[in-house]
Amino acid sequence: MPPSETSPSVAVALLGEIEPGETKKFMLSVEGRETECFLVHYDDQYFAYINRCAHVPMTMDWIDNQFLTEDGRYILCATHGAAFEPNTGECIFGPPCGKFLVRVPLTIDGDRILAGQPIEDEELD
Ligand code: FES
Repeated sequence: MPPSETSPSVAVALLGEIEPGETKKFMLSVEGRETECFLVHYDDQYFAYINRCAHVPMTMDWIDNQFLTEDGRYILCATHGAAFEPNTGECIFGPPCGKFLVRVPLTIDGDRILAGQPIEDEELD
């Protein structure tokens, strides 16, 4: 039996693998279920979220791995056009306005980007 109940972080990308303004999808085991997530390189930092809209629980990229607006400024949900801040996951336009995407915490280890377990209840207010 494993000595710990906590899931270890998993490497999801290498530093420099995705350019600023790009995204990368990855799978993460969340409470025993393989869950699709995505990594965003935005404003010289990396952020990651579960690929599940805060409005209706469905994936947000209607074209595979197409998450950002054309100018790279917002994460966009293709279903009803909600826009989210890449650095916080907060919806600033659209039906789930004020709600947050579920963040996947990231750490950097050498040249690897590691994803930890998502923080499900991060709504701040
Ligand atoms: S499902 Fe994303 S805005 Fe409605």
